[in-house]
Amino acid sequence: MGIQTISIATHKGGTGKTVTSMALSAALARRGKRVLLADLDPQGHSTIGLGVEANDGLPTVRDVFTEPPVPVHRILRHSGVPGLEILPSNIRLERAAQFIYMRPRREELLRRALAPIRPNFDYIIIDCPPSLGALTETGIAAADFVLVPCQMEARAADGLVDLLELVTVLKGDGFQDWRILLTKVDHRKTITNQAVQAALSPWESRMFKTAIPQSEPLNQAQIERTDIFTFDAKSKGAVAYDALTEEILSYGR
Ligand SMILES: Nc1ncnc2c1ncn2[C@@H]1O[C@H](COP(=O)(O)OP(=O)(O)O)[C@@H](O)[C@H]1O
Ligand SMILES: [Mg+2]
Repeated sequence: MGIQTISIATHKGGTGKTVTSMALSAALARRGKRVLLADLDPQGHSTIGLGVEANDGLPTVRDVFTEPPVPVHRILRHSGVPGLEILPSNIRLERAAQFIYMRPRREELLRRALAPIRPNFDYIIIDCPPSLGALTETGIAAADFVLVPCQMEARAADGLVDLLELVTVLKGDGFQDWRILLTKVDHRKTITNQAVQAALSPWESRMFKTAIPQSEPLNQAQIERTDIFTFDAKSKGAVAYDALTEEILSYGR
């Protein structure tokens, strides 16, 4: 199938989109892949989390959406991880996003912007904001695989149908290249876990085999502004994201 661009998207906040984007990008870069992490969230958490300063007046991902756009190669920055570059974001993207709605064929804006640099990367990971708005539309439209992180908590499956509907609208009816990733799994929460598994049962065949456990070092690495493998490669979170990376690589073979 040859996955190259992976969009990490849900309408909900706090489900692990950013943590997954950072860990997957870093894991791929550590395997010698050339990786771009495109931060599409105005909160800029993956930009900050990987040690990039985006409030210095230089162009950010926002400038991809201006008319005319700034070429992406002028916006990229090196992260602290060798082989991993970042398309940085900051809060200014928030206002720019409102104007995207008025643009013709708006969902194609990111895909077209990334096209010239695609050959320079083995993987492009897109960290979407927590909404089904215009930014997420551009993120999904640019992807050839959609990863949907689902946090192990009550109401985990709410809104999933709407997200999948948006994926179908953007990618077409037959699009099969999406998977659900369980995140923040705590095995002690038996009742919650059973409820979530039941709510997700219609999509049983769409789940990644790997699930991501609750793991405090994933929080701490962000505070240190480094990736989880540099911070603590032996932590449960790092081991799980390593397994997820292998699973994704196996899809591409
Ligand atoms: N597996 C995990 N274990 C512990 N904390 C996590 C885990 N995944 C995410 N977090 C924490 O939960 C919060 C929300 O995660 P984040 O990736 O920022 O979600 P999103 O990008 O979907 O809003 C962050 O503080 C993050 O550090
Ligand atoms: Mg996020």
